[in-house]
Amino acid sequence: MHLPDFKVARSSTKIDYKKIDYKLNPKYLDKYKGKKCYLKTYGCQMNEHDSENIKGILELLGFDFTDNMDEADLVLLNTCSIRENAHNKAFGLLGRAKHLKQTKKDLIIGLCGCMAQEEIVVNTIISKYPFVNFVIGTHNFYQLPEILEKSESKQQIEVYSREGDLIEDLPADRTSKYKAYVNIIYGCDKFCTYCIVPYTRGRQRSREKEDILKEINSLIEKGYKEVTLLGQNVNAYGKDLYDNYSLAELLEDVANTNIPRIRFMTSHPWDFNDKMIEVIAKYPNIMPSIHLPVQSGSNRILKLMGRRYTKEEYLTLFHKMKEMIPNCAISTDIIVGFPGETEEDFLETISLVKECKYDNAYTFIYSPRVGTPAAKLTSNVTKEEKEKRLYKLNEIVNTYFKENNEKLVGKTVPVLVEGISDKKNEYFGYSDTNKLVNFTGDNVELGSIVNVLITTAKTWSLDGKVGK
Ligand code: SAH
Ligand code: SF4
Ligand code: F3S
Repeated sequence: MHLPDFKVARSSTKIDYKKIDYKLNPKYLDKYKGKKCYLKTYGCQMNEHDSENIKGILELLGFDFTDNMDEADLVLLNTCSIRENAHNKAFGLLGRAKHLKQTKKDLIIGLCGCMAQEEIVVNTIISKYPFVNFVIGTHNFYQLPEILEKSESKQQIEVYSREGDLIEDLPADRTSKYKAYVNIIYGCDKFCTYCIVPYTRGRQRSREKEDILKEINSLIEKGYKEVTLLGQNVNAYGKDLYDNYSLAELLEDVANTNIPRIRFMTSHPWDFNDKMIEVIAKYPNIMPSIHLPVQSGSNRILKLMGRRYTKEEYLTLFHKMKEMIPNCAISTDIIVGFPGETEEDFLETISLVKECKYDNAYTFIYSPRVGTPAAKLTSNVTKEEKEKRLYKLNEIVNTYFKENNEKLVGKTVPVLVEGISDKKNEYFGYSDTNKLVNFTGDNVELGSIVNVLITTAKTWSLDGKVGK
């Protein structure tokens, strides 16, 4: 059996990485012409954007794409490790692919993304899923053409220990013609005790500002109206590269390109400073919408989570944003059932939520991840209790989504028109504060920004019509 050279990213020392300009070896161009790929993406925006790059590369190789796994020649799963159910879904789909391979011997099956960086997953694939042709880590998917070629003769497992050379000029097939994701920082150095991301994505690496601005300018030329600057912790941007250039300066430079809309995610409260808030408040093309995960309202749990802020510090930042940025919508992430979370801790979270009245919130039951410090803690919270807490939390956050939306009824909001609904003359898009708006209007142009008068508020969306 071929034994893979398997090295997983685990070091916590300062890393040295190099920048590589992507270039496809011409021998791979159109090599797979006429072949079809079924690409399934799990996880966050970073993975979605990686899949756009993966599509860009596979298109150069000649692949077309299909939503029907049965007609695929290549099944590629871009996976997520954040919670156990993400794992289960990917393994479920691998089961389907195995079944298909029994009747289609030439089918190539590959796994990439965050699960590919987990030793436990890779070992499981080697021992129990030998029909998987290749596993390729998050730092080296740009080597897909070579890996595909090698996997024709034997199983390939390529997980890099080098924590990600930074690849520029990757081809991309973007899902939207109007909105684009732009990576500004890879990896994460925060090591929150429950989180697997620093292990799957490696240390913090910022892209050079010139490369980011070049990409944004070329998106503007192609007609893009909105960019979302991406990173697991965008507020740490530049710390590994520059002395005096942070997210605040980058946002200013991006705002000065005059692209109509700028968003950024995700923000870590610990790295958010006043200058960043001032810049967001100053430029009308930086959208007043911030995702600011809190995770818990209990100082005891925040400490166990390694979040580096107290409830009080979070609230001070939150209120400063609300004061300084007009009409600012703030969303959050919350975990319930962290090991040792008592009813009092949970009530602290509820009291914080009642104070913040978030515009949106993603709520999760804690899921132990192998290799993270929290996975070693014993939990006294029962499954039923966790589910009860999640249910109660959701009930409360949902009322605020609706309340915040109701405040917009009778007001006019700018909406980037993204698509047409099934109903006649009905369109949809997102407001400046990132709310989904369904609206009617005549001769509305896709990709334009129109003023929509809000007529009805729902929990997760707004209805309206074009006009004042
Ligand atoms: N970098 C971002 C997002 C990370 S993942 C941040 O720091 O906020 C998105 C969300 O998944 C996290 O905010 C957290 O709420 C949740 N999450 C991460 N690890 C988890 C785990 N082990 N169990 C449950 N939820 C988790
Ligand atoms: Fe994970 Fe924390 Fe980093 Fe977010 S900041 S990716 S939760 S370690
Ligand atoms: Fe999942 Fe990896 Fe993103 S673990 S949330 S796909 S960084």
